[in-house]
Amino acid sequence: MKTKTLKIHIIGGGNLGAALATGLTKFSPNTEITVTRRAIQQIQYLESKNIKVSYDNTFEISQSDIILLTVKPYQVEVVLIEILPHISGKIIVSAVSGLSINTLEQKTNHDHSIVRIMPNIAVQFGESATCISFSEKYDEAGQKVFELFSLLGTALIVEEKLMDAATILGACGTAYALRYIRASMQAGIEIGFDAKTALAIASQTVKGAAQMTLEEKIHPEQLIDRVTTPQGCTIVGLNEMEHQGFSSSLIKGIKTSFGKIKEL
Ligand SMILES: NC(=O)c1ccc[n+]([C@@H]2O[C@H](COP(=O)([O-])OP(=O)(O)OC[C@H]3O[C@@H](n4cnc5c(N)ncnc54)[C@H](OP(=O)(O)O)[C@@H]3O)[C@@H](O)[C@H]2O)c1
Repeated sequence: MKTKTLKIHIIGGGNLGAALATGLTKFSPNTEITVTRRAIQQIQYLESKNIKVSYDNTFEISQSDIILLTVKPYQVEVVLIEILPHISGKIIVSAVSGLSINTLEQKTNHDHSIVRIMPNIAVQFGESATCISFSEKYDEAGQKVFELFSLLGTALIVEEKLMDAATILGACGTAYALRYIRASMQAGIEIGFDAKTALAIASQTVKGAAQMTLEEKIHPEQLIDRVTTPQGCTIVGLNEMEHQGFSSSLIKGIKTSFGKIKEL
């Protein structure tokens, strides 16, 4: 029996919207993706990946199964005014930071199933950490979205009250991890590598370490024990990093970001 194609309409083809379109096309079979934004020339390259693009948010929207909002919070209102007259009973998935399920329900006249997600831009490579939240009455829609994002990395269903924390740890977390890679790369150059080689080593090392925690599901310190020889060069370096405030600065940075999101 042929599986029904899932039509996904992404509104807001910016950093996240374009990454989602690319990831979904690549890793989720039987999906048909449309992406919209006003400056359509910026996303025309997606057409070569079999993704439809449009400057018109209502383009084929009535035929879509899932509408994915990836605009900035202040752009939501105008988008909804435009699309609501053309849709009924859809699954609306929102990646918009700070927009609660309750607010979106009200803004869409309680006519749609609402699911809130917080992915990150590594979704493009099928490597997102996506937190998903929905209320019990939208369980069917929520499970469908969970299945979809399980194909695009790690998908986790969380309580809605954790969505701000998910934004910081999962979405902003990409930037923190990249900053670690940059610092490693710079140190790598100081100890002898050219920039390209240092970047390749630093990036793959982080990917490998992440793979270990994901697959073995044990505390990172247990894995660190496998790398640190007593009186060896790893432990002296690690301890020096801690003397300089490595873990502390990371924790403080994450808490500062979390404090900021609460003000927005
Ligand atoms: N970037 C991330 O890593 C990330 C991760 C998780 C969640 N998010 C959330 O995702 C949302 C988008 O973030 P972003 O970083 O992708 O922002 P962005 O790059 O600015 O993308 C927003 C896109 O929306 C489009 N847009 C604005 N008004 C529109 C309208 N009326 N109709 C159609 N498209 C419209 C803009 O293009 P035009 O101006 O050409 O229309 C722009 O490309 C935010 O709420 C953010 O919090 C982002």
